Amino acid sequence: MPSREAQLFVLAIAGLSGPAYFLFQIQDQKTFRSILFSALVSIAGFAATKWLLPVVARKTLARGICGKDLNKKGTPAGETPIPESAGLAPAAVFLLCIICFELIHYYDINSLVSWVSSGFRGQLQLELLPDSWLVDYNAALASIGFMVFLGFADDVLDIPWRVKLVLPLFAALPLLVAYSGGTGVAVPKPLQAAIGLPSFLELGLLYKAYMVLLAIFCTNSINILAGVNGLEAGQTFIVACAMLLHNLMQLAGHAGSVPEVRDAHLFSVYLALPLAATTLGLLVFNWYPSAVFVGDTFTYFAGMTIAVAGILGHFSETLLLFLIPQVFNFLYSVPQLFGLVFCPRHRLPVFDPATGLLRPKDAPDWNLVNLTLQLFGPCSENALCVRILAMQGACCALGFGLRWALAGIYK
Ligand code: UD1
Ligand code: MG
Repeated sequence: MPSREAQLFVLAIAGLSGPAYFLFQIQDQKTFRSILFSALVSIAGFAATKWLLPVVARKTLARGICGKDLNKKGTPAGETPIPESAGLAPAAVFLLCIICFELIHYYDINSLVSWVSSGFRGQLQLELLPDSWLVDYNAALASIGFMVFLGFADDVLDIPWRVKLVLPLFAALPLLVAYSGGTGVAVPKPLQAAIGLPSFLELGLLYKAYMVLLAIFCTNSINILAGVNGLEAGQTFIVACAMLLHNLMQLAGHAGSVPEVRDAHLFSVYLALPLAATTLGLLVFNWYPSAVFVGDTFTYFAGMTIAVAGILGHFSETLLLFLIPQVFNFLYSVPQLFGLVFCPRHRLPVFDPATGLLRPKDAPDWNLVNLTLQLFGPCSENALCVRILAMQGACCALGFGLRWALAGIYK
């Protein structure tokens, strides 16, 4: 395997080069500048996460918030306590980033730049944002902040599974109340003809119920595709980059000139950018061999942010295409999650200290981690993570392809 740094470098370049390309294709200067500005804040967010993480790790370890590296059992590395809840660092920095964006976008960026360069003299102009924009911002902040709190509570208090499952329901409520977008769906052409449906179906409350289910799904599905060094943060980084790419492609194309659609994608960029940046900062420490565990603090935070960015960006159906591995893993896990098949506390493979390889248990647990080992054979923990992340990348690419192919039958 290439060195740890080389692997992380390739992951970062693979994820970010597409979005960078489309950023420079955006015609509207105001849109371009505001994203560039958010990108600069996010780069600072990456640096801040890298700085804050060792501080958080030292403190959580001192408080006994730590775990054993289960896929290294039988070696000295398997006995060393590893700080848990490292997700606190990216989550805190992420929240700071979007609070900064909120302040910045409240003021006109050009006027802000000339105000600062004139030594804080003169009048600062307000950028006249629509009210709904601020409502969306604060709802996103409330939902994501609440989920970080619940995740940390789970790390410290070990909340039972059935309770865990419904927690995002409460966290999603502020978002639901604030949501000002449409509550209808475009009906595919063949369905319109077959059962006489209109081209657009207003779903009302049903759509809002779907939004809550999406928030519950996203938070839990990232949390249960886990337990391998780098996997939780790695999948989050890839999905955040895919969302970023989708938003920027839309903004560089036709959608960029329709104010409502543009604002939704722009808003989604403001969430996906700092998510990708802070997660990359976390990966520096969490990639194999992990110096920290992300904790439920991170998995819940990441899941909720992805859901919010998809919902407020108005592309939750496309988002589900990016989450094919999570959807599959969730469905495949249902028998164990609902107790039809025995479900141990950790659904992880067995580590063989003699060969350094992971293999499924004799009665393999029902998840994608074990299925990958069953399909492709035993491998090292590092290789297992890379294999699953490669699948994640391929599914995101497939998502873009399917979107493109399906566009024809929608319109
Ligand atoms: C979920 C999974 C569980 C999996 C666990 C691993 C379900 C229903 N639950 O539970 O099967 O074992 O996540 O995160 O699918 N750990 C490692 N290496 C890693 C990351 C975590 O060994 O790279 C271990 C550490 O001991 C760590 C613990 O997993 O302390 C964290 O588990 P936690 O997040 O509390 O588990 P759950 O989210 O409840
Ligand atoms: Mg977890």
